[in-house]
Amino acid sequence: MSRQPFFYDITLRDGNQSLKKPWNLQEKEFIFKKLIDFGVQAVEAGFPAASEMDFEACRRLAETAPENLVISGLARCVESDIKTAVEAINICSKPRLHTFIAMSPFNMKYVLNKSPEEVRKTAIEAVSFAKSLMGSRGEVQFSVEHFGDCMENLDFVTDTLKEVVKAGACVINLPNTVERTRVKTFVDMVEKVYNALPKDIMIAVHCHNDLGMATAATVESYFAGATQLECCLNGIGERAGNTNMYEVAIALHNSGVEVPLKLSDIYELALTISDMAKIRIPDLAPLVGSEALAHRSGIHQDGAIKTKDMEKGAYRPIHPTLIGRKDDEKLGFTSQSGKTAIFEIIKDAGYPITIQEAVRISPVVKEAAEKIGELPTRNIIDIYFNEVFNVKGDFRLVSFEKLTDGVFNLKFFHKDKCYDIDGHGNGPVDACLDALKQAGFEQKLLDYEQFALDGELSGSGAVAMTVMHFEDKNGKTIISRGKDESTAKANVKAIFNGLNLMRQQ
Ligand code: KIV
Ligand code: ZN
Repeated sequence: MSRQPFFYDITLRDGNQSLKKPWNLQEKEFIFKKLIDFGVQAVEAGFPAASEMDFEACRRLAETAPENLVISGLARCVESDIKTAVEAINICSKPRLHTFIAMSPFNMKYVLNKSPEEVRKTAIEAVSFAKSLMGSRGEVQFSVEHFGDCMENLDFVTDTLKEVVKAGACVINLPNTVERTRVKTFVDMVEKVYNALPKDIMIAVHCHNDLGMATAATVESYFAGATQLECCLNGIGERAGNTNMYEVAIALHNSGVEVPLKLSDIYELALTISDMAKIRIPDLAPLVGSEALAHRSGIHQDGAIKTKDMEKGAYRPIHPTLIGRKDDEKLGFTSQSGKTAIFEIIKDAGYPITIQEAVRISPVVKEAAEKIGELPTRNIIDIYFNEVFNVKGDFRLVSFEKLTDGVFNLKFFHKDKCYDIDGHGNGPVDACLDALKQAGFEQKLLDYEQFALDGELSGSGAVAMTVMHFEDKNGKTIISRGKDESTAKANVKAIFNGLNLMRQQ
């Protein structure tokens, strides 16, 4: 069995600090409850020294935290920050003080203005001070800010971390504070640190998404030894954001790792956080984007429909219900789409259609899509009505009237010639076919049924719909339809649509 990942949420700290309007206490409490329901193992509640509001929020969350949840507060390697953070969080049953300092050569030189030795000393002193305040009940986490930029001085970093561990840190966090290069470079560095430190030390990763690879870096770091995965809901955070918790959770789940989160909360959580952060979910966002279940190419639509009810789909990474999303793989019809989309769109709208009919109307639908792009369902339905119920051709019905019981008069054109014939039969269908036979157009009717289209589907009042199956001269079955308020006329229209269809073959 693989080890369980430890989900350390940073939405309320790293996510919050990037918002145009950071959350107030009530908003933080609301999200905190959602995080508890979602099942994260730790919550970084804030940066207590940053503001009175953040201090109060951290204290409140620590007060109300459930027993098994780690609550952490961030502090620079500065005594006053550490004291404030400890004061804010140490009321909960699992408090953690999280302190950090940059160790990349670039940052030490140009931002901190400190030599590596000064940084090392600051880190060790801060951790040992924090540990002295936390005592045996609380933990100390230490982060190497800009770890991803420490390729050249990795030995210095590793040696310092060994000292930091001796000073009392039990979680070592390795942030990719700015994502600049390859995922593999970062993951190899994480692996080196993991191998160099005692095995009871929990390795964490914290990846920013500057190049869009934070999920990959986090997931691969887990397989390289990192257990604590620092992520944000909706991937919010500074610049291009932090690692997206949903993507990491699902990637691990799909890789056979047991993920201790309530995955079915994901979709709703994403919508809630988007609302609260006032950051819309991009249409193409993995898993939760509005387009994440849309298929427009004919090949994809075909595969999606064939595997619709299966857990694994031909063109989706998960079954949508895994993340609490409706099972609504959306088919949009564009010039790239095919018959399957027409068939499914018409069927989903509640109209009867066969795949043969979808094939037949497909060129007309495609032509419309070429002009305007993705066709609204209404346009596809209009084309369906036009093409299926009003088939154009050499035969044109003029009228069909009952004369007496068993006798009907049929007037129609074939090309330019007008016919006016009385047909005989058991009912309108028989009589119409008899009149056509007298005119030299005998048809072989295989089957026919009639049902009612309710008002909503017919677009007006309730109408009758007739479906007829004819055998054409090549022995092929042709399906035709007719609709009318009069059941007799619906039948005759279906016959004429069938006549024109057979001539089109
Ligand atoms: O991105 C970062 O390096 C951080 C640290 C404070 C952990 O947020
Ligand atoms: Zn960060």
